[in-house]
Amino acid sequence: MCGIVGYVGSRQAYPILIKGLKRLEYRGYDSAGVALINEGGDLVVYKTKGKVSNLEAVCKDKDISGSTGIAHTRWATHGEPSDVNAHPHYSENRNLALIHNGIIENYLSLKEELLKLGYHFQSQTDTEVVIQLIQYIMDSHSISLEEAVPLALRNVVGAYALVVIDKNNPESMIAARKGSPLVIGVGNEEYFVGSDATPIVEFTNKVVYLEEEQIAFIKKGEPLRITDLKSVKQTAVVKELELSLSEIEKGGYPHFMLKEIFEQPRTLKASMKGRLHPELSGVKLSGIIDNRERLLKAKRFIICACGTSWHAGLIGKYIIEELTRIPVEVEYSSEFRYRKPVILKDDVVIAISQSGETADTLAAIQLAKEAGAFLFGICNVVGSSIARATDTGCYTHIGPEIGVASTKAFTAQVTTLTLIAISIAEELGTISEERKKTLTAELQTIPDKIEKILEHDEQIASLAKTFTYARNFLYLGRGYNYPVALEGALKLKEISYIHAEGYPAAEMKHGPIALIDDEMPTVVIAPKRGHYDKILSNVQEIKARKGRIISIVTEGDTDIKKISDFALEIPDTEECLTPILSVIPLQLLAYHIAIAKGRDVDQPRNLAKSVTVE
Ligand code: G6P
Repeated sequence: MCGIVGYVGSRQAYPILIKGLKRLEYRGYDSAGVALINEGGDLVVYKTKGKVSNLEAVCKDKDISGSTGIAHTRWATHGEPSDVNAHPHYSENRNLALIHNGIIENYLSLKEELLKLGYHFQSQTDTEVVIQLIQYIMDSHSISLEEAVPLALRNVVGAYALVVIDKNNPESMIAARKGSPLVIGVGNEEYFVGSDATPIVEFTNKVVYLEEEQIAFIKKGEPLRITDLKSVKQTAVVKELELSLSEIEKGGYPHFMLKEIFEQPRTLKASMKGRLHPELSGVKLSGIIDNRERLLKAKRFIICACGTSWHAGLIGKYIIEELTRIPVEVEYSSEFRYRKPVILKDDVVIAISQSGETADTLAAIQLAKEAGAFLFGICNVVGSSIARATDTGCYTHIGPEIGVASTKAFTAQVTTLTLIAISIAEELGTISEERKKTLTAELQTIPDKIEKILEHDEQIASLAKTFTYARNFLYLGRGYNYPVALEGALKLKEISYIHAEGYPAAEMKHGPIALIDDEMPTVVIAPKRGHYDKILSNVQEIKARKGRIISIVTEGDTDIKKISDFALEIPDTEECLTPILSVIPLQLLAYHIAIAKGRDVDQPRNLAKSVTVE
């Protein structure tokens, strides 16, 4: 969702800010803007609906000088995407400008008060209220911006990461966070601010992650000062950034999504590194070993997640139940948090989130914490809000995922859930030595097997061209591959805008079969292991109605291949591991259909990479 960049130092701010905004484009947005204190001492704001390139066009003949500035990409929540609703927002007297991620929940009541006091609003956003409030507090109490910001934020209800600049303090910025992440890059007599580290990494590897309800007072050439909302001094902990520039660049691929699909052999090895010990036929996860007693006490696991992470969670349910015999429920975080769920003290809640910032998942685990459940996180972003809010967990360690459509995070989440299931089963004694040996040995072969599937990329690209006409797709799978059908359909919708539905194959008879005709493509995930004969009957039912079939089959398959219009092969593996392989051709299929339709795969319309509002 929204992205934040800020700079104060001796360099020209504008190129740094624009480059930063481009690095943040992956988060999803619909308008962009920049505010600068220019060399003439004026505070100027330029903003526009659309892409960062539109903003550059707007700024082309403008004064973009100055060494202090803030910039923003907005994903609309309050008020449509438009030039006026884009950030930065000015204060009434035009001395201050502010950018903001998050939602101000009490903005209506604050706005009413400010309107009564004679303040005027240009936009429909919740954000503009904050900057007007800050100015009001400065004026009414005759105090500085530094004194006014904590007072204003104590009156604000909601979530924010925000940055303010003041034309009367041209070498300073004030940044604050509550509920939305904010990173400050510490350079040589200069500072950078980002909603994540991607705009900062090429300038410095020294960063301070702002904690909840902290305010940073940032001044060129001076040490960073941090306080809480009550103005109590806090320590600025400078950390070394664990991110390299190459991880956030395309590295020769046309899109981040394709790069990330092709990275999977490597990222899966990274997820298993130090955890999988085939020579001992075992799995060692410190998050499990260190919390052995609490985890083994669990009578039930509840998995909370959204989107692709939810699909991984569904596969996690199948494997945890199969190996440990402990019941697992899989919940959409957004439903769980509001439906008064039964949460017992012995429950273990597993939160799965690539970004670690998804607002609904964060709220779901906060609810579970209040009910006394033990919280286990599976996150990718180290130090993210969900990773910090959980009692323990496992990182997936796959590096940044930039493509909005999640790919390498999914396979890493499924792999991590498999390791967790084996590890708990090992502790409980519900897995035989032989089975453990087979699974750990097989897991080790998965990266090479993915490599083999990726060799079919060109074949999938040419197949994709055949299906650009389709307006609907059906994806079918059974058992472990039912969640893969959901994930395959989600990938296609997200980036090609073709309607697609995933279904458990046998349920097709209860509805979707009505849609099948010679125009409707059905993707059937039918590896040899699992319910092969059953799914073969489902494929025959589709064929009998002249449906077009693309099947995902195990190498050497003949029966399903024979009746399919197109078949894509994957290597054989254990049934519970098939999702990690069967999803790869579906990722490539969605990618190539979207490309053939001319879609922007890395920044699909309306979508955000990290959904930090509910
Ligand atoms: C958004 C992203 C999806 C992602 C979902 C959950 O919708 O576009 O790719 O699966 O959020 O995100 P999380 O970071 O919690 O895994």
